[in-house]
Amino acid sequence: MIILKSDHEINAMRTAGKLAAETLAMIEKHIRVGVSTQELNDICHDFTVSRGAICAPLNYRGFPKSICTSVNEVVCHGIPDPRHILKEGDIINIDVTPIVEGYHGDASKTFFVGNHISATARKLVKVTEECLEIGISKVRVGARIGDIGHAIQEYAEKNGFSVVRDFVGHGIGKIFHEDPQVPHYGEAGKGVRIEPGMTFTIEPMINSGDYRCKILKDKWTAVTVDRSLSAQFEHTIAIRGDGSVEILTLP
Ligand code: MF3
Ligand code: CO
Ligand code: CO
Repeated sequence: MIILKSDHEINAMRTAGKLAAETLAMIEKHIRVGVSTQELNDICHDFTVSRGAICAPLNYRGFPKSICTSVNEVVCHGIPDPRHILKEGDIINIDVTPIVEGYHGDASKTFFVGNHISATARKLVKVTEECLEIGISKVRVGARIGDIGHAIQEYAEKNGFSVVRDFVGHGIGKIFHEDPQVPHYGEAGKGVRIEPGMTFTIEPMINSGDYRCKILKDKWTAVTVDRSLSAQFEHTIAIRGDGSVEILTLP
């Protein structure tokens, strides 16, 4: 069941979305060789709390930390760890979801660590960000959810990369993950029709090799089966009452 939001609720979600974007802009300055993913977690946590907000991931279905830090072959849901020190040439996705006045704002970006980034990693991160933009460009009243994933898959595969199937975008509001599911692959013209009041994420995870994932023993960390690189970008999107499309997770 899709929970449609009023413009008033969307305005509240914009406040949460803005904080998500500001958190990502803030943490970018702290990403460097030698920092631990736990330190990045703590900086984001303190920043979120200082703004009167809550970190949705903390204790969500047992997730133990406040953000997700997904490095190199980690597709998503990487758990911050004081023993995990970033090194030259890594790529890291930081995924933040503050709750403000009961509403979630969900956004993520992939960053470079240091200056010596492989050509593959550079291309993967660029193409993944473009996949998100292309997906967003398909959002309009009357289009189908499948139009988004179809466009993303076509662009990713044209560039020699693959689209993760095991994790998808999602409806969002007072609930972190609600209907509809938003796959980043599939057929145009399929899936539910997009209508005013919908709020959902688009968050393509794109791999340099095989699209398949496996979950590590910690029950959260998803890695590529072939240990190829994976990148991700995420925005929360709303369709207002007048049919206009708004990216809620902008600073
Ligand atoms: N923020 C992630 C998403 O984009 C979800 C993280 S769930 C957690 O949907 F439990 F791992 F935090
Ligand atoms: Co999400
Ligand atoms: Co997220």
